[in-house]
Amino acid sequence: MRTPIIAGNWKLNKNPQETVEFVNAVKAELPNSSDVETVICAPAVDLPALLESAKGSELHVGAENCYFENEGAYTGETSPMVLKDMGVDYVIIGHSERREYFHETDEDINKKAKAIFANGMKPILCCGESLETREANKAEEFVEGQIKADLEGLTAEQVSNTVIAYEPIWAIGTGKTATADQAEEMCRAIRNTVADLYDESVAEKVRIQYGGSVKPANVKEIMSKEDIDGGLIGGAALQPDSFLQLAHYKD
Ligand code: PGA
Repeated sequence: MRTPIIAGNWKLNKNPQETVEFVNAVKAELPNSSDVETVICAPAVDLPALLESAKGSELHVGAENCYFENEGAYTGETSPMVLKDMGVDYVIIGHSERREYFHETDEDINKKAKAIFANGMKPILCCGESLETREANKAEEFVEGQIKADLEGLTAEQVSNTVIAYEPIWAIGTGKTATADQAEEMCRAIRNTVADLYDESVAEKVRIQYGGSVKPANVKEIMSKEDIDGGLIGGAALQPDSFLQLAHYKD
């Protein structure tokens, strides 16, 4: 059985004080991690505050990005080794905003995935097509290409421990959610791609999230789908009430 994973992606929002306030508002109310795992992925500058305030609670901590080298002359980058030392569990990689605005390639993302595993953390690997690609009926082919390139050279065990987030670009921050059926169809296709690249048992273990305008009003329907194991949530994960409602989608 795959444990559902509800992860917030704060993007470039909140300072350390707001981070502590958020955690204090949610930490006593979170579901047990064995039932629904909850994660907040925060800007690097907020991670010390997030880790400290989440200590002893059910909340897992993620970073929104890291570099693929642990140290050296790479001005402005974040070391995966230091993230691990600090207590970070997850790192988002390949978010469409990073692919688009910061020109990250599948090759970079693949190197980051390897560095994250080498340091004992787990990646939340984002993939997803543009509206143009979907309208050209090339969405599945495009996402499969991303998955193959991003997972290249990872072991079966590493892929079993990867969280894949399917986030159609046209649904991110737009209020336009993919229908639960569209989301399921692509998550199923991603699982089939993993089965082709590895085997059925790896495909059964990998957790696949949907992301793109997930909110309390639609989370239940999305999570009812067989191949959707969680959500990666931006806007609706910024407020404690809304995050708690997402985390308790089963209630
Ligand atoms: P959204 O963002 O929930 O605000 O659409 C999702 C994401 O980019 O991870």
